[in-house]
Formats: sequence, structure tokens, C-alpha cells
Amino acid sequence: MQIPNLGKTFRGKIRVKGDKSISHRVLILSGLSEGITKIYNLSSADDVKRTANILSELGVKIKEKDGQNYVNVEGKGLYLNFPQSVLYAGNSGTTARIFSAILSAQKFPSVLDGDESLRKRPMKRVVEPLRKLGAKIWGKNNGDNLPLIFDGAGKFRGGKNFLLSVPSAQVKTALLIANFWSDEPIKVKEPSSSRDHTERILPIFSVDVKKDEDGFIFCEGKPISPGFFNVPGDISSASFLLALGILGKNSEVEVYDVLLNPTRIGFIQALKSMGGDIEFWVEREEGGEPVGKVVAKSSFLKAQEFKGEIIPLMIDEIPILSFIAIFSEGVFCVRDAKELRVKETDRIHAICHNLRALGIDVEEYEDGFSFEGLGKDAEKKLKNDYYLKSFGDHRIAMSIFVLGCVIEGRIFVDDDIKSVVSVSYPEFFSDVQKLLVKL
Ligand code: S3P
Repeated sequence: MQIPNLGKTFRGKIRVKGDKSISHRVLILSGLSEGITKIYNLSSADDVKRTANILSELGVKIKEKDGQNYVNVEGKGLYLNFPQSVLYAGNSGTTARIFSAILSAQKFPSVLDGDESLRKRPMKRVVEPLRKLGAKIWGKNNGDNLPLIFDGAGKFRGGKNFLLSVPSAQVKTALLIANFWSDEPIKVKEPSSSRDHTERILPIFSVDVKKDEDGFIFCEGKPISPGFFNVPGDISSASFLLALGILGKNSEVEVYDVLLNPTRIGFIQALKSMGGDIEFWVEREEGGEPVGKVVAKSSFLKAQEFKGEIIPLMIDEIPILSFIAIFSEGVFCVRDAKELRVKETDRIHAICHNLRALGIDVEEYEDGFSFEGLGKDAEKKLKNDYYLKSFGDHRIAMSIFVLGCVIEGRIFVDDDIKSVVSVSYPEFFSDVQKLLVKL
């Protein structure tokens, strides 16, 4: 399909649906607690629907009220019902990794599967520690790939510390909630911080999160429903709209009621350090998370090198940041980002492939890439027809769409990107339309 040439100015104030990472967590904890939780502004992402469907298969009653901005979750407690079919996580790594812990601790056998992309993603990072806790798990490549078979043991053998080799919020979450089914603490520590939503949401569900003197974290207590929970807007979805504010002509985009957790705003910090006209204001705390607004305006950008601790804090935004960097002066470089190779697609390869298809000379490394930006006239320099590929990845697809909106040339993309994008942000195209200034 051809990316429609909509116009080049984007202005307005907009609110996005609830954060995907937090939506998974609040659904899961609501399902595992006793009592009813009313969840406002839940993400409508396909990934989150996978989590909700699996919970339903396991006996959790989830009711969506037509025309209302909330769902009701009737928790079942820690022991769920035997499912009638294979549990399907679709494209969602978060669903697969967190449910690996939950299913290992049930009192019945189960099978967890995913789509073609998820079947290729590494599961050993969660399967190996769970096996050390007594979990019985079988799967392809000795349990490194879905489908996985669990023979629920009913509990974990705790008293173990896990030092992760890469920061991963999914693995950290799986090991933290494993504490629910263990008498002895299960502790986890990351080499550097990843998103900390689980640590923030557990106390809302009356579970204490503790840190020992060596920096390992664990939790104590069983989840109890807080009654209601309001999910802040998804900052990762917002990043694509903010990109239009930065790259559009005479543009200004404000996203309000959005999550501003410090472990998720690496993208904003990165753009600021590139000279981007982007500011954020934390206005309140909700569900243990800072929430506020971000405003991004048309900017001239200077390329930068990004590596080290900022990488996990913007890991999902590296595709859009790299596309934005096409419009910067100087050499843009990302290192220490090997994790991108095992996301929904190999995102290092996907970014490099598309930049090359635009005629940009890119150097590819095992853990990143570098290229020289085309500078502030990039939109004029990119005046031809370009054939890009989403690789079936939602964040690559949205990055391509944003680029297509702001350059003079035409972009053709292979996939049906509408269905690809709905993995995380089904409202993306209508939100872009809302910001478009028709001249
Ligand atoms: C997520 C954690 C990150 C992130 C993913 C969502 C989460 O993955 O890339 O999109 O909700 O915990 P890793 O845990 O693999 O770093």
C-alpha cells in the first residue's frame, strides 16, 4: 500500500488510550486477586486482548460495558480454572513471559502458543529461572521457543536469587509474581533499570515490594483488588504523535493524561539532548505512576550517540527515534541495544533495511547501527518513490507511516499495516487524522 500524503502540519491536543505494559499488569493482578476491579482506560491493543482472553480461558470473568470506558474484572485468586484449549498469546511477548510463571504455578497442565513472530522469540530467559524454582516446562529447542507445555506444580520452590544478564521487565515481572506461590522469597536483580510498573502496581494491590541489602527485589503478600484502577495514557503510542510534532512543518502536538514514568521517557530525554523542542510536565500521580502532558514542536535536530543505561528506558522507541534522526545533522548512533534483535522482529535489521531503502548509508553492528542524518532539508531530499518494509512489526510500521506523512516523496509499504499497527495502537490512524491540519 502507499502511505497517503496527508499534509505536513500537525497541531492539537490529544489523549491516547491506556498504556499497554500497565494494562497487561492490571488485568493479570486483577484476575489473580479476589474481588472485582473496575479498570478505566484499558489499552485496546491486540496484545492486551490476548492477555484478557487467556485470563478468560482460565476462568476470570472480564466484562466490557458497551460505550463505557471501563472493564470489570472478577478475580479468581491465585489458582485458576483448567483451560479448555491451547492458550494463545498472539504477538505478545509480555503475555507469554508473565503467563509462563502463572501457568507453572497452577495445579493443571497447559499449553501456551503464539504467532509466527512470537514462536521465534527467546523464552529461555524466563523458562530457565522458573525451572530452577521447580517448574516443569517443555518446549521446542529445550523450552526456548513456543509452544510451551507446563505441568503445573501448584507452587514454587523459593529461596533463590536471580541476577539477570539483560534488563527485562517481562522476566523481572514473572519472577516477582512467582513469589505469590512460594513460601520462601524469590529475588531478582537487573544489571540496569528496566520499566518498573510491576514494582509500582503491586503495592496498589496490597503486595509489599522489598529490596534486600544486595539490591535484589522480591515481594510479600497476595494480591487484593483495589476496587478500581485508571490506566495512564500510553507514552509509547504517544511517541509517534510527538514525532509528527517534531518533524511536521509549523507543528505543535500536545499529548495529555499520559504516563511519564522515568523508566519510560528515555525517548523524550534523547530528543531533548538532540535539541528537540519537547517538554513534559508531571501533573499528578495515578496508580503509583507519574502522569502529565508532553508538548513537541517543530525542531532542528543534532544527531547524537546513545548507549548504556538510557537504552532500556527507550527500547520500544528506538525505531521512531531512528526515523526522526534522518532529519538531524551529524552522525546518529545506537549501541548496547542487542535486545532489539529479539523484539517482534529483528528491529536492528528492520531499521537498517529501511534506511538503506531510503538511500542512506548505514553501518550495522550486532548491538546497534549508525548513519549520517540528512539534516533539516531531509523532507526535500527524500523526494522519490521508496519501497519500505514493516516486517510485520507494529512499531516499524508506525515509524514508516510517520515518515510518509512528512517527506515530499512517496512511500510504499508491503504489509497491510492497519492490522499490524493494532498490535499496540489501533487508534493510530484516526489519532493522526485528528492532528492533521488541512491547508
Ligand atoms: C515490556 C517490556 C519490554 C518492552 C516490551 C514491554 C513489558 O520488553 O520492550 O514492549 O511490558 O514488560 P523486555 O522485558 O523484553 O525488555
